[in-house]
Amino acid sequence: MITKPRGTEDVLPEESKLWQYIENTARRVCELYGYKEIRTPVFEHTELFQRGVGDTTDVVQKEMYTFEDKGGRSITLKPEGTATLVRSYIENSLYANPQPTKLSYIIPCFRYEKPQSGRLREFHQFGIECFGASTPTTDAEVISLAYMFLKELKLTGIRLNINSIGCPVCKKDYNQKLRAYFENYRGELCPTCLERLEKNPMRIIDCKSEICSRIAKDAPKMIDNLCEDCSTHFEGVKERLDNMGVEYTVNPDIVRGLDYYTKTVFEFVSDALGAQSTVCGGGRYSGLVEELGGKPADGIGFAAGLERLILVFKKQQEQLNEFDSVPDLFVATMGETAEKFAQKLIFELRQKGIHAQQDLCGRSLKAQMKYADKLSSKFSIVIGDTELEQNSANLKNMTNGGITETDLSADALSEKIIQEVK
Ligand code: HAM
Repeated sequence: MITKPRGTEDVLPEESKLWQYIENTARRVCELYGYKEIRTPVFEHTELFQRGVGDTTDVVQKEMYTFEDKGGRSITLKPEGTATLVRSYIENSLYANPQPTKLSYIIPCFRYEKPQSGRLREFHQFGIECFGASTPTTDAEVISLAYMFLKELKLTGIRLNINSIGCPVCKKDYNQKLRAYFENYRGELCPTCLERLEKNPMRIIDCKSEICSRIAKDAPKMIDNLCEDCSTHFEGVKERLDNMGVEYTVNPDIVRGLDYYTKTVFEFVSDALGAQSTVCGGGRYSGLVEELGGKPADGIGFAAGLERLILVFKKQQEQLNEFDSVPDLFVATMGETAEKFAQKLIFELRQKGIHAQQDLCGRSLKAQMKYADKLSSKFSIVIGDTELEQNSANLKNMTNGGITETDLSADALSEKIIQEVK
């Protein structure tokens, strides 16, 4: 048997309701904030991520699905959405519209990581990006959108951590301090981090190796080395979050795994998950649009991992039942004439928004009723020759056993079902 590739998942029907609920909630919250959906290619030129995400990051160094296409171009399956959105913002001149440009997306992402619970090779992100606004109000609005999204999902045990990782001005001094600190441990750092020590010492803080992360624990923190502008910006963001009642903790250890961030960064973590506890991460990026060939414009956004949100839902088991879709009506039939009549009736009922089902497998009447029970249908009726002759049948409420007589028109049935459900 051919099985699915390692690190990928099938979303089976009973779970896809939950996906739709999460996606619909994301779209609803985006609408309230004025974010419009953008759809972009699944693959891009590799260079976009090398320049955009940063060639000292794990994502670019180790995790990209890169291949040469038949035309000899280097192509990469999107490992994330931000670089792509920046490309699209520039390429489609979205900066020419009144700013900011507020965009949202739900996309598959691909990273060649070691699969484990909450870490996949193909996963999905809901994300937003806001271009052309550099005020602390924007940071607070973006964070509050993620906060509202997660609140609307009614997930419990989610905490928000924020930090500032400064701008190129303060990063320059800070990198020198970091380099000096890590130099003391040159002999212990992993080979990748030795390379990072020269090129981008902040990446060492994000290294997953046990030794490097132990060394990094006592490294100088960016938040203690912010320039005045970054410090004022961060204070402004915190003030506005306080003002809205968005609860957060300042966590100086957040550096994020991608190179483009400047100033505000943030992560939402779940108590319900183990090692892969970050359900949503994001931050501001001031130089990326210019780096990718556009006129300078600030950006800020986040992405939430849908599989991780599903995992949190599964831990909060009792909520899952809410997402089961059950039929309003099961129409059991006796004989071919009744079965044909039922099919037409059900077709009409569905057009009226009633979820109706009939047997498709040639079951006996007894087996049909058993099947209706299995489907947890709310109502059932039995139609045979007598019912057809009299144009009347008993509508049974499957929850309380109540019986109501009804004629066999779609109008009468749908009215009775709607009345009773109310
Ligand atoms: P990221 O932190 O790399 O940020 O990913 C965002 C979220 O995607 C994570 O918090 C996690 O929930 C999910 N995720 C990441 N990798 C995996 C994986 N291998 N398996 C399952 N879920 C995963 C970004 O991608 C940035 N583009 C976010 C952003 C948008 N920053 C600014 N704008």
